[in-house]
Amino acid sequence: MGKQLGIVVVGCGGISNCHTAALARIPEVKLIASVDIDEARAKDFVHRYGFETHAADLGAVLGRDDVDAVVVTTANDTHAPLSVKALEAGKHVLVQKPMALTLAEADVMIATANRANRKLMVSFFEFFHPAFRRAKEIVDQGLIGDVFFFKAIMAWYMPSMTAWRFDPKISGGGILMDGHVHHIAYFQWLLGDPPVESVYSEFGALNSTAAVEDTGVTLIRTAKAIAEISGSNRLLEPNAQSGRYFKEWIEIFGSRGTIHIDPTERPSLRVYIEGNELRESLGGGWIAPRLEPSPPLERAYSNHFNPDENPWVDEHRHFVDCCINDKPVVSDGYFGRKVLEILMAGYRSHAEGRKIRLPLVAAGAPR
Ligand SMILES: NC(=O)c1ccc[n+]([C@@H]2O[C@H](COP(=O)([O-])OP(=O)(O)OC[C@H]3O[C@@H](n4cnc5c(N)ncnc54)[C@H](O)[C@@H]3O)[C@@H](O)[C@H]2O)c1
Repeated sequence: MGKQLGIVVVGCGGISNCHTAALARIPEVKLIASVDIDEARAKDFVHRYGFETHAADLGAVLGRDDVDAVVVTTANDTHAPLSVKALEAGKHVLVQKPMALTLAEADVMIATANRANRKLMVSFFEFFHPAFRRAKEIVDQGLIGDVFFFKAIMAWYMPSMTAWRFDPKISGGGILMDGHVHHIAYFQWLLGDPPVESVYSEFGALNSTAAVEDTGVTLIRTAKAIAEISGSNRLLEPNAQSGRYFKEWIEIFGSRGTIHIDPTERPSLRVYIEGNELRESLGGGWIAPRLEPSPPLERAYSNHFNPDENPWVDEHRHFVDCCINDKPVVSDGYFGRKVLEILMAGYRSHAEGRKIRLPLVAAGAPR
């Protein structure tokens, strides 16, 4: 076997299981330590996934020479400090979305990664989900012409309002930071990260007494397209796959056709191309491009998608490959910052009752 990447996972909560189960399936990965302020959780990860050791504090394991990278899957307020700590110790970082609570924090993360000459990747699982990835290929090949309109919704139902997600000091916000962030990133990636002209958001705690917004709509305007991104964490709509309250739906409209992505449905990708003569017809001119199923060993449960379209292993394969072979990551700190800037513009827009033009502030760390 070639080089192995020694990995620490910090934050052993819900989504960390998707990351860690994926990491455990990659031969180039060596699971060194699981870290959580709740030490019982960190210990449980040792047994569940085979880490060598565990700790309650990231600092306790950063001094090890065999640690090459840190995967940050803690609550939002700790993304920046933990990432900076890991980068300063000379480790590569993969951090969950949103990358930070403020643009100033994001700038420090980027500058630290540049100084340390280490990878900083922000996790957006959609970029590795077969339906989302195939849709991008179809757009890149020009098969639906020029994309001029994008509509997306991500919604679920969160019964308890005591979680950190409802504490603005920890989460930085509600459904925009938690749900919109995914589709903002996907829209920007899909269209090759176009300059954003303006952002407008309308939101509120409409179906709860939460201190952060539970429901919202964000409009993004680029020179050639409009995106309408919606979401709620108080929506009572079960999906057909799991019966759980989780809904996700994306529509991409081009000058020659339309793409629907419905990751909790089958087929999860439907495409209509004007005049297309492909055989795999769903009727009415729609087709369902064949997607690569994940090998059974790489499948994972998630509300977001069918388990045979699991993105996590490919996401980590990409990160590990970029670290070992010094390749650029698909969603670096600059990209994560752009997504955060759009979110911040959304919050400002709501506060000021008007659309906000970008850029918000002078660009941060130089490339
Ligand atoms: N991509 C996705 O689909 C997706 C889904 C869910 C959550 N997320 C993101 O992942 C992150 C974690 O979300 P979650 O739902 O798993 O939360 P969670 O509360 O289930 O887990 C967070 C864990 O981090 C630990 N933690 C907090 N501060 C720490 C610190 N300083 N050092 C070590 N451990 C610490 C907590 O004890 C907890 O075990 C959030 O940023 C969230 O936005 C992404």
